[in-house]
Amino acid sequence: MHKDDPATLAATPAAPTAAAPQSMDAFWMPFTANRQFKAAPRLLAKAKGMHYWTPEGRQILDGIAGLWCVNAGHARPKIVEAIAAQAAEMDFAPPFNMAHPKAFELAERLVQLTPAGLNKVFFANSGSEAVETALKMAIGYHRARGDGARTRLIGRERGYHGVNFGGITVGGIVGNRKSFGPLLPGADHLRHTHDLSKNAYARGVPEHGAELADDLERLVALHDASTIAAVIVEPVAGSTGVLLPPKGYLKRLREICDKHGILLIFDEVITGFGRLGSPFAAHHFDVTPDLMTVAKGITNGCVPMGAVFAKQAIHDAFMTGPEHLIEFPHGYTYSSHPLACAAALGTLDTYAEDGLLTRAATMAPVFENALHSLRGVPHVIDVRNIGLVGGIELQPIAGQPGKRAFDAFLECWERGVLIRTTGDTIALSPPLIVENSHIDQMVSTIADVLKQQG
Ligand SMILES: Cc1ncc(COP(=O)(O)O)c(C=O)c1O
Repeated sequence: MHKDDPATLAATPAAPTAAAPQSMDAFWMPFTANRQFKAAPRLLAKAKGMHYWTPEGRQILDGIAGLWCVNAGHARPKIVEAIAAQAAEMDFAPPFNMAHPKAFELAERLVQLTPAGLNKVFFANSGSEAVETALKMAIGYHRARGDGARTRLIGRERGYHGVNFGGITVGGIVGNRKSFGPLLPGADHLRHTHDLSKNAYARGVPEHGAELADDLERLVALHDASTIAAVIVEPVAGSTGVLLPPKGYLKRLREICDKHGILLIFDEVITGFGRLGSPFAAHHFDVTPDLMTVAKGITNGCVPMGAVFAKQAIHDAFMTGPEHLIEFPHGYTYSSHPLACAAALGTLDTYAEDGLLTRAATMAPVFENALHSLRGVPHVIDVRNIGLVGGIELQPIAGQPGKRAFDAFLECWERGVLIRTTGDTIALSPPLIVENSHIDQMVSTIADVLKQQG
């Protein structure tokens, strides 16, 4: 048996793990109910294959690939070795007016995987940074072409594009926006596509709602296309609770963007690198955006990295002016960090060896059937699925939005399964090495937990 075989990885026993911390006071935790957590901590200390282990050695099945990122499963040897070797060889290289060979090697490897035309890549360190980079590229591109009035950015209600100011401006999750002032000027939003009255329990993409793409025509009529730089959407919205695009919606959005000279940005931070059963959602839906953001699975979550893929014409529009001057005044100290590049190369090797960029397509029918077996389980009001992404929407407890799903999350943790919840939707996105038995365990645990809720 191959040493990376999923069965071998899953069977790896828990060795002694890191000790629990002495104090939890100083660490202000991100996107966490800090007081709740510190009263009843949930610590992870070790990971391999499909599993985590707590500091006490309790095994937890990873139903969410860490946070939509560990697509090849945990502690894959090629990635671990690549990072260790790179750290020993060269820890850091400045990325401004300097470079290191692996950055170029990685860029060439990546653009072999992207849809035709997306052949330039700009590195960042997270999904949020990739989004900011793409938004700036879009506005800068129009200006470079002498169309500088195109500055307006269009997002979508319920969209999630990270947490920086550009990202929350085009994002549409109210809780992430309402506390932070007026955000960037001049943005607007398409309507979201979620419609339980027509599409509940759809298997795969829902039938109804392609016409919601025409909302862009409404915004063009309101603002005029000459003021709009770009539209950004997640092909499948994850963080808002797994919303799939209605059949034909993305193609229609592409057509309307083309008609009006508006750039289309796909935020593929969760859909990139095999989640839907193709390397990117753009392949799956056969729609090529002008700019595409990725992060997470690019390094299997092992070292922070994000990236933007751009069409040649967008890149070329910047390549003017004196040759000694910087064409796109943007970048991060850690853009194309050597450890991230090494991790990404090890990740791409691992994906290729195990066929992981298409494995979700093979597992999708099993996953779909298992998820839809939850129909009729108490409190379930919808089940959504595509590739290895699942959403289980629950009836909220009256007056306590989010509480039912959060309670389910806590109880699943007690029973050894890590799930994720947003609002009252449970999201599942297991590592792409998942086997039938893991899917059974996840779904039966969720069913038991929901049956037990009053
Ligand atoms: C679609 C999308 N865009 C952007 C981000 C932000 O990525 P990060 O948390 O790496 O900044 C996420 C994170 O989940 C995401 O799902």
